[in-house]
Amino acid sequence: MDYQLLINEVYHEVQSLQLEGKVANYIPELANLDIRKFGISLVTAKGEVYTIGDADEKFSLQSISKAFTLAMVFASEGEALWKRLGVEPSGNPFNSLAQLEYENGIPRNPFINAGALVITDIIRSKTAKPIDDILRFINKLVNSDTIKINQTIAISEIKNSSRNTALAHFMKSFGNINSPIDELIETYCNQCAIEMTCTELAQAFLLFANYGQNRFNGDQLLTRSQTKRINALMQTCGFYDEAGEFAYTVGLPGKSGVGGGIAAILPGEFSVVVWSPGLNPKGNSAKGMKALELLTTKLGHSVF
Ligand code: DON
Repeated sequence: MDYQLLINEVYHEVQSLQLEGKVANYIPELANLDIRKFGISLVTAKGEVYTIGDADEKFSLQSISKAFTLAMVFASEGEALWKRLGVEPSGNPFNSLAQLEYENGIPRNPFINAGALVITDIIRSKTAKPIDDILRFINKLVNSDTIKINQTIAISEIKNSSRNTALAHFMKSFGNINSPIDELIETYCNQCAIEMTCTELAQAFLLFANYGQNRFNGDQLLTRSQTKRINALMQTCGFYDEAGEFAYTVGLPGKSGVGGGIAAILPGEFSVVVWSPGLNPKGNSAKGMKALELLTTKLGHSVF
């Protein structure tokens, strides 16, 4: 398969559709993103890199960071993790409070904000420098030490975090959060503000395409079974109340973020990242969703 030709075709076809979407504005700094940006990187399991468009520009991971924090915690805690959160799709928006009340402060899954806050709380309970540990984990996946936090975006979210703060307080009232809330929110917002390019993120996501192995140093960070489970969760919960749509149209495990990125993998074959900051009403990149639909359709291959 000529992957360069494939992503070129996808890129130009999506551009011709003039899908715009809207930048996220509940984090004020994200409202400044240029809606015209659009990049794609595809990295094969062996590490061959194919790019087009703005694939070498940094953008903040936002909820895509939740895949890495889940990997860290699943590797250290194993199945014991699931005492504090579930593995079911929520069918609700990513920042919804509704289910938490009647499900006693146990979030449905690790990708909605409530679940991701529990995961970050667990990381905080294991280390004095949680953000350093998260950055080290991601940097190792790209064989680098240059992956950092965009401080302006982190501060912008910290100052506008009423919803996440409410989720955290509510879970704490059920005994499912241990950290002081302001510290937890600070760690979480910093984690979401980690910046990578499409190519760096696709390289890091090879962890999930390569059955839990870091391609650069051969370290087996997750077992094959754990990797299968994280991929299953990305498939069923990675796009919140649009997870069904993503499975139906794209058919790959993936994770989106309100910075406009979507990372997805085909196990054993490749990882692919699309970035375009215009979001659809569910908070997922409008061009990103279409690009990945075209990619698997033209390829004739997906996990289904
Ligand atoms: O917590 C938030 O609201 C953001 N930092 C991340 C949300 C997000 O990316 C949702 N995904 N599409």
